[in-house]
Amino acid sequence: MNEPVMNTELSAFIMFPKKFLWGAATSAAQIEGAWDEDGRGPSIWDTFASEPGNVRNDETPSISCDFYHHWKKDIALMQKIGLQAFRFSISWSRVLPEGKGEINTKGLDFYDNLVDELLKAGIQPFPTLFHWDLPKAIHDEGGWQNRGIAEWFAEYTGVVADRLGDRVSHWITFNEPQIFLGFGYSKGNHAPGQQLPESKVFRCAHHVNLAHGRAVQVLREKVGEKSQIGFTPFHQFALPENPKATQHIAAAKKASFDPHWTGDHETFFNSCWWSDPIFTGKYPRTLFEHVPEAEDFIEAKDMKVINQPLDFYGFNYYFGKTVRSADNEQGWEEVPPKPGEPTTAFNWPIHPEGLYWGPKWLYERYKLPLYVFENGMSSTDWIALDGKVHDTNRIDFLTRYLREFGRAGKAKVPIAGYFQWSLLDNYEWAEGYNERFGLIHVDFETQKRTLKESAHWYAEVIKTNGKSLK
Ligand code: FCB
Repeated sequence: MNEPVMNTELSAFIMFPKKFLWGAATSAAQIEGAWDEDGRGPSIWDTFASEPGNVRNDETPSISCDFYHHWKKDIALMQKIGLQAFRFSISWSRVLPEGKGEINTKGLDFYDNLVDELLKAGIQPFPTLFHWDLPKAIHDEGGWQNRGIAEWFAEYTGVVADRLGDRVSHWITFNEPQIFLGFGYSKGNHAPGQQLPESKVFRCAHHVNLAHGRAVQVLREKVGEKSQIGFTPFHQFALPENPKATQHIAAAKKASFDPHWTGDHETFFNSCWWSDPIFTGKYPRTLFEHVPEAEDFIEAKDMKVINQPLDFYGFNYYFGKTVRSADNEQGWEEVPPKPGEPTTAFNWPIHPEGLYWGPKWLYERYKLPLYVFENGMSSTDWIALDGKVHDTNRIDFLTRYLREFGRAGKAKVPIAGYFQWSLLDNYEWAEGYNERFGLIHVDFETQKRTLKESAHWYAEVIKTNGKSLK
């Protein structure tokens, strides 16, 4: 962890623009519950989690935070915090139980009412169309391996846009394709638990990119130019060992967009495999060395579909990895962590400076306004004897990260908004209910909500547009 930006005269170092949006993020599978209510079809997370051994303690998302029944009260809590925007995702199989064909009106009603109530509360809705919960019926037809999915996704997007498009002005197509493909189709520790060879995973990746492009086309057609559209990859930036040494900064920037940079993951995790085709219309040049089969499944017209103009660049950032410049072919090498470096309850390292370097480099490369759509930490939070949740670590963590994001703002990077992950403690995929990321504590047995200290702290940050970050 670098030294934090100074406490005194903070405004000389950080800046959040006047129209900056302060929000919090969630996703359908992680909060909604009501997995089989009102006609919803199952998703791959329902089936994966129901098989013993796949998720810690065999916990399932069937009830979770029961947001499906608590949404009104939860919006009241959002108002208490003063949220200006709320990121949620739409469950594809709630809207189309079979993934295509018959529409489940009750499912659409849920999102329709949610959007109305959010707007009534003065909170801007930021729906994500796909946050990992693929309808089981689509999976049974080959899921992301089947090229037909791009059209099924377009159909689903059209159904949602017809219902919500008159009121929703910001749309996110996909959340972190690297993670759901890398974990779900390569490593196998996430739904649907497959371990496909690299060429097949990349075929899936290409279909995700195509589905994204088709969804943007449908949204533009149905909601017109006035709506803002983007997507949100995961980023693990390479960070300079010495932030004052130009050669280390250059090496970290190079590594961050190097197709071989995988951070803690496997091939294709680097966002340039996704963001370059989507924002620039080109895959990294080394694609065909990596995956010669790509010649067979990338059709000539595909890149145009994938490369739709977008309005913003959203990204999720939790931690990076330190590098230094090196006298080797790639020009950088990783620096091992120092003994005892601080980590969160999830064992994730703490690298606030990524919220300065990341947006700066992303803006230089893609030239769009930037949103952080996820950032936060899990902590071993519990309700103390005084009835409160004293999550001081989270406050310190978020202060550090937000100061760095504000520093990017001061450096004239067009930062547009920040969404803390997450509003509520929720279902953390293969970790079940073990990781508490929320500003609001959830007792999963009683569904009781308790605002953590960080929620009160965040309220002040929002009220002062970041000036209280000291
Ligand atoms: C991200 C996911 C999100 C949540 C956080 C902790 O990778 O997008 O759903 O699980 O991590």
